[in-house]
Amino acid sequence: MSEQTAGQDIETLFLEQRRYPPPPEFAKQANAQPDIHTKKLDEFWREEGEKRVSWFSPFDQVYEWEPPYAKWFLGGKLNVCYNCVDRHVEAGRGDKVAFYWEGEPEEERRTLSFADLQAEVVRFANGLKKLGVEKGTPVAIYMGMVPELPVAMLACARLGAPHTVIFGGFSADSLSDRVNDMECEVLVTQNEGWRRGNRVPLKKTSDEAMDRSPSVKQCVVYRRTDGEVDMRDGRDLWWDQLLEDVSDDPDSCPCQEMDSEDLLYLLYTSGTTAKPKGIVHTTGGYLTGVATTHHYVFDVKPDSVYWCAADIGWVTGHSYIVYGPLCNGTTGVVYEGTPDFPDKDRWWAIVERYKVDILYTAPTAIRSHMKWGPEYAKKHDLSSLRVLGTVGEPINPEAWVWYHENIGRGRCPVVDTWWQTETGMIMITPLPGITTLKPGSATKPFPTVDAAVFNEKGESVPPGGGGYLVIREPWPAMLRGIHKDHERYVKTYWSKYPNVYFVGDGARVDEDGDFWLLGRIDDVMNVSGHRISTIEVESALVDHPRVAEAAVCGRADKTTGQAIVAYVTLKGGDEGSPEMLRELRIHVGQRIGKFAAPANIVFTPELPKTRSGKIMRRLLRDVAENRELGDTTTLADSAVVEELAKRGREEAKTEE
Ligand code: PRX
Repeated sequence: MSEQTAGQDIETLFLEQRRYPPPPEFAKQANAQPDIHTKKLDEFWREEGEKRVSWFSPFDQVYEWEPPYAKWFLGGKLNVCYNCVDRHVEAGRGDKVAFYWEGEPEEERRTLSFADLQAEVVRFANGLKKLGVEKGTPVAIYMGMVPELPVAMLACARLGAPHTVIFGGFSADSLSDRVNDMECEVLVTQNEGWRRGNRVPLKKTSDEAMDRSPSVKQCVVYRRTDGEVDMRDGRDLWWDQLLEDVSDDPDSCPCQEMDSEDLLYLLYTSGTTAKPKGIVHTTGGYLTGVATTHHYVFDVKPDSVYWCAADIGWVTGHSYIVYGPLCNGTTGVVYEGTPDFPDKDRWWAIVERYKVDILYTAPTAIRSHMKWGPEYAKKHDLSSLRVLGTVGEPINPEAWVWYHENIGRGRCPVVDTWWQTETGMIMITPLPGITTLKPGSATKPFPTVDAAVFNEKGESVPPGGGGYLVIREPWPAMLRGIHKDHERYVKTYWSKYPNVYFVGDGARVDEDGDFWLLGRIDDVMNVSGHRISTIEVESALVDHPRVAEAAVCGRADKTTGQAIVAYVTLKGGDEGSPEMLRELRIHVGQRIGKFAAPANIVFTPELPKTRSGKIMRRLLRDVAENRELGDTTTLADSAVVEELAKRGREEAKTEE
């Protein structure tokens, strides 16, 4: 537990009074009807498991709970790729669009039907087979938002080869750490990606990573741009070259029969130490969990055009771009680039072009659009939209209402969905058509999810009070552990309260039983929806030869939710300089990824510490927020440093 919360419950937020009851016409046609809440855990998931997923052999037990590990759909055999692709083609829906894809350069568009997707997946799976990939071979995927990314994931799933997707914004160090932890044998990447008109050197970064990742024997490179890259003989192969003579006949590469509890993928996420955790997701429970939540939470219809504007490199993309929607046979949109390229109306042009009816994004993106102004959305016909979603961080009521009015034109329910990499699926969320919405509240737990707010002692906090969010019963898409680290799994999630999942977020439940999420209560920051640990950034800073010590905290930021502030003491009493500051930002970018570079760096001769030598993070955060450090990096300002020193002395006295 971090020092900032020890011994105290969390202060609660002010009460947001606005209410949005479900429009009656929406309620009538909604996938979720009020009786959804009447079913018991067992019954609900047995039905959903049977309804949403095709099993090669049926399961004979819904779940088994031996804390802290659960198993779901025991005895069931299935294949995720079969469920997401083949069965739709077999059912005569091969012509239905699986993905509308738009490249960032505007003229580049592709439409993939389910039959096209099947052909691509079969070819790539056959290609992987040629490289020796089989059931159980770990594969790393480091790509941008091209259709070949879901193709690669599904090809792995087809073969029963577990994958780990590493977000394309991560550095070589972050990539090799993950690849090494999973001991991946194949890395799939692309020569370059596009981002805001710039080329992202994915293969070059992969080369640096592979220098430190001896387990990788082969690297497959998809050619996205005309950019030249180095190709190492015997290790690197172009995607097209690999697929030259392979078949796209599904019978040439049947879907591997997997056990419900076989590993589907690992996804690494930040915790409270410098080492990211490999979150384990398995097959049957995960697929059922994401398909079911996708169906009810977004009110998806057979003719929906659904757009989740997240990156597939994060869990949102895994669960709600690839696995959930494809399992449901939904038509999706995938967009490669940033919302402001070539102009700030790009998203709205996409909504109009494909007649998107469901849009799922993050508060940080909504706040960017808010900053740019509603005129960009006004230029486009957004009348196709029916449901709007948000995820990744608490949404402030102003952004919620802006989204509802300017994008949803006051007609569309906004579903604020709370969940995590670890939960795999949406856990607390409105159900459109049933739930009365409150801007800023994720409202109610999804059916059968047993969420509560506990105080330090493990008692439920009465309505109105703040505390720690917990989940008391298992759910199908829950993590099955941390890769190779049972102890950390137990310590992180299961040791604060016995047999109860400890989330790491603060929350409050109001008089109506609605949940208000209050942000992380551990040393994890949330910057633009990216989870970054303070200690990871500190380690990256201290790793620079000139840095003696560093302390990092998050401060509130109007657009990105939180921004990173670093307090740095340089070696030899060096005072720091604008050059040093730039160098350190680049250094963190190289160690973790550019998105983790501190917004502010304050050079200080000393860090405030307790007598026992612990850095006073809360004090640093207070100073960062009270001083309102700007959006751009600020240098040591003597007043900040003095304040740090003064308040550090005062707190040390109080401690005595
Ligand atoms: O703090 C919560 C916040 O994001 C954390 C999970 O981050 P990650 O594993 O990267 O997954 C993000 C996408 C699912 C949570 O512990 N969070 C996520 N959604 C919300 C949220 N906080 C408030 N409201 C949300 N809707």
